[in-house]
Amino acid sequence: FQHSKAPLPTGKLSTHRVSQFAMTKNPDITNEPMRDYLPKKVQGQTVEKQLNPSKISDTICTFEMASDSQIQQAIQGSLEARKTWSEMPIYDRQAVFLKAADLIANKYRYLIMASTMLGQGKNIWQAEIDAAAESVDFLRFNVKYSTELYSTQPPENSPGSWNHMEYRPLEGFVYAVSPFNFTAIGLNLSAAPALMGNVVLWKPSNSAVLSNYLMYKILEEAGLPPGVIQFVPGDAVSVSKKVFESPDFAALHFTGSTHVFKSLWKTIGNNIDIYKSYPRIVGETGGKNFHLIHNSANIDNVVNQTIRGAFEYQGQKCSACSRVYVPSSLWPEFKSKITEKLQSVKLGNISNPENFLGPVINDTAFNRIKSYIEYAENAEDCTIISGGKCDSSVGYYIEPTIIQTTNIKSKPLIEEIFGPVLTAYVYPDNEFEKIISIIDSSTSYGLTGAVFAQDREAVIYASNKLVNAAGNFYINDKSTGAVVGQQPFGGSRSSGTNDKAGSASILSRFVSPRSVKETF
Ligand code: SER
Repeated sequence: FQHSKAPLPTGKLSTHRVSQFAMTKNPDITNEPMRDYLPKKVQGQTVEKQLNPSKISDTICTFEMASDSQIQQAIQGSLEARKTWSEMPIYDRQAVFLKAADLIANKYRYLIMASTMLGQGKNIWQAEIDAAAESVDFLRFNVKYSTELYSTQPPENSPGSWNHMEYRPLEGFVYAVSPFNFTAIGLNLSAAPALMGNVVLWKPSNSAVLSNYLMYKILEEAGLPPGVIQFVPGDAVSVSKKVFESPDFAALHFTGSTHVFKSLWKTIGNNIDIYKSYPRIVGETGGKNFHLIHNSANIDNVVNQTIRGAFEYQGQKCSACSRVYVPSSLWPEFKSKITEKLQSVKLGNISNPENFLGPVINDTAFNRIKSYIEYAENAEDCTIISGGKCDSSVGYYIEPTIIQTTNIKSKPLIEEIFGPVLTAYVYPDNEFEKIISIIDSSTSYGLTGAVFAQDREAVIYASNKLVNAAGNFYINDKSTGAVVGQQPFGGSRSSGTNDKAGSASILSRFVSPRSVKETF
């Protein structure tokens, strides 16, 4: 699997890919109603709804919030399952995840795409890239990387002895906390540690329960033994509290906000004396990702990549470009081309494949993003040059919005908004070096960033000076769209522990190696 090419927002969008889907054989799933896959209700539980953000009068699924005793049961159940799973040969574990990849690619492709479209507001291209392509990539590449890791052995044996490394699973259980924005990330946060022989308690985002639950069911169908992954939707604070009280808590595998990650880390720190081992903490968090334009850049490429980087999936990717720095000589052309192209970009219900943008995920996100737009409307140093309308009467719709600011420390320029809002700052052409140092220091994040320049010296200079400003750095390409197997993903500073999703190194965080020497 490779990422498909998402449509460029130029002119009329082609429906070519949709007819390709229609032609692909999908015998097992097309006629089955989605409700057959939903969790069964239990009386007396708190039941939550997942709404369709494109049309909030539609409920996509209902699910139970785990009670304290269910969380406890899930932990106990996983530890029970650990007894056999942790001793299973790696080849047998690999087979489960390879089979799951095949099931996603062939049998359940449309089901998981549909659940991601309806539940998380992704259009068909974004849903395919995420739920179908990236999910399969994660599973298959993890298997390949695990083989590499297991074959990393000490290079020397002294005469009469034999050394080897055993990659033991962690002693305890892994807590996977996943976000709403990528179905593939939820799958990977739980599947990667499980591949390494761990058991996992997986808490999905309440805004992505359906697609995540389907992934869990697919893993089960692929042969994952009961209890190895415990799927536990619930109130984030209650689940985390129970998890962190357990002496068997061995690792956190997290993707979500910087604020939540820091607070979980503090709780783990406070509880450190109760754990059997030092917990591994692996997290990918927020970003304030930049596009830096040099005056040698190809402006048409800049415009296309910036629209895609900032507005695909409504800017709800941790990698989304949310600040752009444009030299004054290119600003008039940049401004007129980007605002003109945005006129032809359609916003609406994702069930219409012509809509490049769909809704934002929920009312909390809608209100947060709207508040930044309102701030810009009222701030003297900000001008809205495109978009700005927000409407939640049918779904959570926000126009792709560009704010221009003259204040280098303006709120929308330095704070994470996580929505379809891009803030632009115009700098004098001869201050390229100065703007780089500002980009590097004006936020605490370090996730993704891009430089656009045809002048090689400018590229080299920016790349060297921004070495810690972006864990994923792009040259003449948008800040989003890392492909598993090509660009391992993750950032440092407040953006995460930079263990790189989709790499051999992250798998090493979920094993506790034993070094063995035998003399004969
Ligand atoms: N990996 C995604 C991207 O690069 C973000 O999670 O866009």
